[in-house]
Amino acid sequence: MDAEKMRRLARIPEVITDIPSLPLVASKVLQLITGENTSMSDLMGVISLDHSFASRLIRIANSPYYTRDNRAGDVADAVIRIGFTTVRALVFAASLRDMGLMSDSLDRALWEHNTAVALGATVVARETGLLPSGEPLIHGLLHDIGKVLINRTLREKYAEVIRTVRERKIPFIEAERALLGFDHSDVGEYVAERWNLPDSLSFVLANHHREDLLSVKDAALRKTALAVKAADALCSSLGIGISCTVSLSDEEWKALKLSSPRKRSGICTRIGEEFPSHRDFIMGRGN
Ligand SMILES: [Fe+2]
Ligand SMILES: [Fe+2]
Repeated sequence: MDAEKMRRLARIPEVITDIPSLPLVASKVLQLITGENTSMSDLMGVISLDHSFASRLIRIANSPYYTRDNRAGDVADAVIRIGFTTVRALVFAASLRDMGLMSDSLDRALWEHNTAVALGATVVARETGLLPSGEPLIHGLLHDIGKVLINRTLREKYAEVIRTVRERKIPFIEAERALLGFDHSDVGEYVAERWNLPDSLSFVLANHHREDLLSVKDAALRKTALAVKAADALCSSLGIGISCTVSLSDEEWKALKLSSPRKRSGICTRIGEEFPSHRDFIMGRGN
């Protein structure tokens, strides 16, 4: 780690003092993600610990998005219908809501961006076949958690960051470093440690704006972070959430097999079509 980065990380605990702890269900689900032999019944056991979440999950499984003929009657039916990886992301989204991290309109705009990138990374994974398609959902959902946590502690200052991003059309990390002395990926890295997040999530939170991702040796980490970075760029071009400037190099698009602008615009179309129902689903509108 270079000295500049160490200086930025050292400032965070002095400034961002109000990081909530992760609810029990969310941390148990994380243990399942990192566990070697996680089974469906382990996941169902954890979900059943939280009755309100369990009943919300059953309601979601019975929403038009999932319901075909029979209604889901219990958690097992609901998990089977919704799918293992998506349930994991939903448990997280519900936990974040319960932690008060989606409380005002700016929070919601930040989460709209997070949910769009979660969907975008899933579509990129599905269309390119580079990753199992459900895999990057939770990575996309949490990739900008640092912005939410900064905004929670430093509302006025962060409003200034957003104004600067909009007026000067510069990347968030540039405005954050100039105005705060650290950026949201630094805060992501810090909170990943506090919450004991699994390595792949921690890597994406800390590195999704890195310019040298192609040099990362671990193929799974590299591909996951690239899928999130690509989704970030595609969602920015669609103007979903608070707009920001994210771009990929030609080599990075090539590594994702997305050199063709036609392919990229096809993915944008899919994201645009699926976004409204995906957002309502993850952010809980009507649930
Ligand atoms: Fe970011
Ligand atoms: Fe982002």
